[in-house]
Amino acid sequence: MKDKFNNSVGPLANQSNRTSKQALRAVIATLILMLGLQAATQVFALKFQYHPLLGIHVSYIYPPWAIIGWAWHWGDAYPSYFLAASHVGMVVTGVGLLLQMVVIMVVDNSAKASVYMYGSARWANLNDIRLAGLLSRPRKLTERLLGRKPLKCAGVFVGAWQDKRGQTHYLRHSGGEHVLCIAPTGSGKGVGLVIPTLLTWPHSTVITDLKGELWGATTGWRQQRANNKVLRFEPAAQDSVHWNPLDEIRLGTAFEVGDVQNLVNLMVDPDGRGLETHWQKTAHALLVGVMLHALYLAQKTGEKATLQHLDRMLSDPQKALSELWHEMRFNLHRQGSQHDLVSSAAMDMISRPIEEAGSVLSTAKSYLSLYRDPIVAENISQSDFRISDLMNHECPVSLYIVTQPTDKNRLRPLVRILINMIIRLSAQGLTISEGIPKASYKHRLLLMLDEFAALGKLDILQESLAFLRGYGIKCYLICQDITQLKSRENGYGPDESISSNCAVVNAFAPNRIETAEHLSKLTGQTTIVKEQITTSGHRASMLLGNVSRTTHEVQRPLLTPDECMRMQGPVKDDLGMIEIPGDMLVFMAGYPAIYGVQPLYFKDPALLARSRIPPANKSDYLTNRNKSRSSSRFDENQLPEKGIGASSQIDTGHEHSIHKGEKTHVRSSGR
Ligand SMILES: Nc1ncnc2c1ncn2[C@@H]1O[C@H](COP(=O)(O)OP(=O)(O)OP(=O)(O)O)[C@@H](O)[C@H]1O
Ligand SMILES: [Mg+2]
Repeated sequence: MKDKFNNSVGPLANQSNRTSKQALRAVIATLILMLGLQAATQVFALKFQYHPLLGIHVSYIYPPWAIIGWAWHWGDAYPSYFLAASHVGMVVTGVGLLLQMVVIMVVDNSAKASVYMYGSARWANLNDIRLAGLLSRPRKLTERLLGRKPLKCAGVFVGAWQDKRGQTHYLRHSGGEHVLCIAPTGSGKGVGLVIPTLLTWPHSTVITDLKGELWGATTGWRQQRANNKVLRFEPAAQDSVHWNPLDEIRLGTAFEVGDVQNLVNLMVDPDGRGLETHWQKTAHALLVGVMLHALYLAQKTGEKATLQHLDRMLSDPQKALSELWHEMRFNLHRQGSQHDLVSSAAMDMISRPIEEAGSVLSTAKSYLSLYRDPIVAENISQSDFRISDLMNHECPVSLYIVTQPTDKNRLRPLVRILINMIIRLSAQGLTISEGIPKASYKHRLLLMLDEFAALGKLDILQESLAFLRGYGIKCYLICQDITQLKSRENGYGPDESISSNCAVVNAFAPNRIETAEHLSKLTGQTTIVKEQITTSGHRASMLLGNVSRTTHEVQRPLLTPDECMRMQGPVKDDLGMIEIPGDMLVFMAGYPAIYGVQPLYFKDPALLARSRIPPANKSDYLTNRNKSRSSSRFDENQLPEKGIGASSQIDTGHEHSIHKGEKTHVRSSGR
């Protein structure tokens, strides 16, 4: 592709072109006039044998306008000389202007192709990527003179890009906007995007770690070097950090009903499809009443209310259910007065026919069955951290939500509850200072949600994406393909607003045509100019009768779905280890698409060294267990990197070549 781009949009596309052409023609005409003057001047000077009185010259070449001064002084004395010189000048100017006219006529009458006629999409170049803020800009001259250090681009890894010399540059995004990654399983999302990000992001983070692999590769660095508290919430494992969702309910405040309803919503709607059946709706009302009752009772007795406790209340063999409904109906929870919601939930149950009440009860209990697992029950019996700690603890906090593939579906309701509450409770506390909204938090929070579409529809995520950045929360959402996201059954439906709220979209070679079509549309339409030569006359004759050359503009996507499907994937060896990174696409809102390459943490000595720091062997605890280290705000650039040689790429600026020339396979044009 030519290095001359049309960045104007829509009807403006050709306007700048026309004005610049007219300006060029005016300049050429002026130059021709000057040439005529120069000719007249030189002819006159020659006639007077370059007399010293004619003034300054360089090797007998006088300034073109010198003849005007000479005519002023000696015009009356030598009129014939001036006349002869002016004739020469006029001939030169006339011929020049005539030639220009002919050229203009030929150019204007020739068929010209408009390379932007049907679209002006193109691949981003270095300048575009810098403008998009994914690569740091070079220092200005003044900054160099002032001895400023080279600027570094920090933030999450969204890809890498190879320049014309084959040097690979990391693309990192630091702003508050969210990132959506679309890449199939096994394509290197973990090794290319998630692990590099977790090995460089110094602030708080919440990670869905599906196999516990991210804990192993990144907690060493995060805990020991980035001064993070690392928490492993693995509900089905014995060494998990504890977290009781009921501890997050703001009992006794105006938010208590909202908090309880929200929590129960998530319990009775484990896939996010909404409360569809009568039984779900009635079980919801019952659980809200019982949960509030349990919370107030626990407050009185000083015990902890838990979800397992709720299940026991509804299935207690020692106590008749009528007793529970009676207790709830005549509760005096609020400083001696009844809690209406609790009473009415009990009344609903009392007034139902026995069969219906039995069905409502069994539906409600079915949503609590997960918490009968003693390990899960133990892990949610108390809280070793609070959600507010994520952004406001003295140290940044890294919360790893680990679910083994075999337990993934069973634990989904609990993971949904945790993520929902993190979003709900962290996105608050905005104050307006001097007309500018300001969120009060100590640490930014990165929500790194791998396989987030598999969690089912999380309404709160979709609804709040647009404003989360104002609260210091950045989402990095990863899904396998666009159909997973747009699924009506398990995803966010065709009208989802997740993708439109993510300013950066990155993708590896897809394996579904729907995803390829979506990515192809994102790259945009471009114009291809096709030249056609038509000949007439006998082929055997010396000269063809007629040759006509026509150009056609043709529209095509910058990357067709088919080409997208055939994008180079990572090249793996016999053991499945990646040897050569694959291609990838990065879209940044407002900038041309970037045709990039995968970054790979194990190809970078600094990242590899960070990943090899032994992982934390157990969780930190923030509330009721040992509080270990004190902390200070952390700056990635001040990190002492033990064991990393001078080739450390991360601290010395991401623009260094990381694995120069390693990618040797043939690439598509336009890179
Ligand atoms: N140190 C390494 N050197 C070379 N290849 C590696 C290394 N570590 C992992 N890989 C390879 O990277 C590939 C993809 O890894 P990764 O787990 O990042 O994929 P993924 O897209 O996250 O997949 P999934 O959806 O299963 O999580 C695997 O084939 C794996 O063998
Ligand atoms: Mg992975």
